[in-house]
Amino acid sequence: MCGIIGCVSEGPVSGILLDGLKRVEYRGYDSAGMATVNDGKLSVRKGAGRITDIERRKHLSALGGNVGIAHTRWATHGGVTDRNAHPHTSCGDTLAVIHNGIIENYIPLKTRLQSKGHVFKSETDTEVIAHIIEEEYGKRSDPLRATIAATRKLEGQYAIAVLFRDRPDVIVGARKDAPLIAGIGDGQMFIASDILAFIEHTDKTVFLDNQEAALITKDSLKILGADGRELSREPTQVAWELSNISRTKYAHHTLKEINEQRQTVAAAAVQDPAKLAAFAGAIRKAGTIFITGSGTSYHAGLLMKSRLNHEAGIRCDTVVSGELKEHSAFLGKGSVLIVLSQSGETADVLEAVKEAKGRGAKVLSIVNVAGSTLSRESDQTLLLNCGPEVGVAATKSFTAQAVVVNMVVDAVLGRKRSEGVEELPKAVEEALKTERQIKAIVQKYMDRPDFYFVGRGYQSPVALEGALKLKELSYIHAEGMPASELKHGTLALIETGTPVVVINPSGENHADTLSSSEELRARGADLIGISDVEDRVYKHFVRVPRVQPKFMPIVEVIPLQLLAYHFAVAKKRDPDYPRNLAKSVTVK
Ligand code: G6P
Repeated sequence: MCGIIGCVSEGPVSGILLDGLKRVEYRGYDSAGMATVNDGKLSVRKGAGRITDIERRKHLSALGGNVGIAHTRWATHGGVTDRNAHPHTSCGDTLAVIHNGIIENYIPLKTRLQSKGHVFKSETDTEVIAHIIEEEYGKRSDPLRATIAATRKLEGQYAIAVLFRDRPDVIVGARKDAPLIAGIGDGQMFIASDILAFIEHTDKTVFLDNQEAALITKDSLKILGADGRELSREPTQVAWELSNISRTKYAHHTLKEINEQRQTVAAAAVQDPAKLAAFAGAIRKAGTIFITGSGTSYHAGLLMKSRLNHEAGIRCDTVVSGELKEHSAFLGKGSVLIVLSQSGETADVLEAVKEAKGRGAKVLSIVNVAGSTLSRESDQTLLLNCGPEVGVAATKSFTAQAVVVNMVVDAVLGRKRSEGVEELPKAVEEALKTERQIKAIVQKYMDRPDFYFVGRGYQSPVALEGALKLKELSYIHAEGMPASELKHGTLALIETGTPVVVINPSGENHADTLSSSEELRARGADLIGISDVEDRVYKHFVRVPRVQPKFMPIVEVIPLQLLAYHFAVAKKRDPDYPRNLAKSVTVK
């Protein structure tokens, strides 16, 4: 899950590429690099570290040339070293390649290439692509056809961009099971793994479909389909505002995105009534229903299942996308797979979709990125409308998902409107006011190695999400679970002063969760209650506003997001770019 960008322009490209790289850094941030062609010379500068470090050490923006490619890496094959950073070049430095994905058969390919005399400079799977294209380009001096011929030898997933020393007028791109998008500017063309990479320059994009390849010049785009035939495709205009991407007054993207939830809960609620009704209709008519997603999106899927089961009487299950195959025997014609994803590009999610479609199931998706692979592979799609989410940990996309899944369930229940949705922006505003209190809690528990999060029923996905956020952002060990499960094991870990966050709104589970809280307190736990009703059992009480029960997770998760964020800041960890993670996990 790396970020790639290439640009052919009338003017110098290194500054454009560097800005673009910074925008897709969320996709991976182990290493970065750039290659340009200038005066007949292919130059590559790259290294391990964050983009700003590499820029300082290697002066990427000083590279001359009107054509270039750049890459930000999340390591899969080969350690995080300068040599393993992309771009990778062929033996004679005749071409350079950047890649997002995994080449599964790179070992036999590498062995064969080495036996033919190719010398490898890195331990990556990507480098084989450069050497194979070099061989194919030797046979036919056609950059696009040579790249296509090379990709036919690759197994696995890839989105690549290739730069040729003797063709300073072109970049070639190709994709299979990883996203690649062309951007059509004025006197400049782009190819990238994400619209964010070039949105500052153009909002006109062309999405490449699976197994397609493209060649860009500064003013043209040629696409070849999997069968080698030329295709014509109209550009799509993307509506995302550039201003949404900069951090403005906030210290981090994550904090900005937490605060944006005031607006994004309202934006998520703006759904086309006809589309919503069709989505709900497909659920009502379905035989077997599975809901799927990864990470935070999976937690939103658990909320949906809970209401479909309890209120609509519809039997369905939520499974993490990477495990969907284990359940797919139940999917067939007449079944529905409901898919939640912020990016619409998560490999596990796309794999689940492929599996379901292969069995004849319908795919209904709820996704943030319009035009993403998931939205294009789905029979029906509802958008989250929450704008670009750059912080690696999902925040505003989760609350937007909580809005949309509830609107869908309400439509399934035949309700014309989702009662209480209009009070959400104000309620979010209230929930954000817990920040000072949360900061004080962070100071008190700075040295604690473990945190637990519990909730019952509809609140247990919130407990899971609270624990996930804390792990991702602060690297503190955390576990979330249904409060009922505590006594079946985890209670053994509770000692004097162990912090336990209890999510316990008023309602049918309130009393039972208070009993669990008493059990915890009797074993010495320090309880942090998140609720609309106070109780003496909590050592710290964080009041959140009372909204419709179906929307309580939205106001409950906000203090949990702030807790994770402020722990990260207090522990001097970068909340926007947590170690080892990436926002879009486009590899299996
Ligand atoms: C990654 C991110 C998580 C995210 C998950 C699913 O693991 O780090 O924050 O929840 O992917 O992403 P999606 O884009 O499919 O919602």
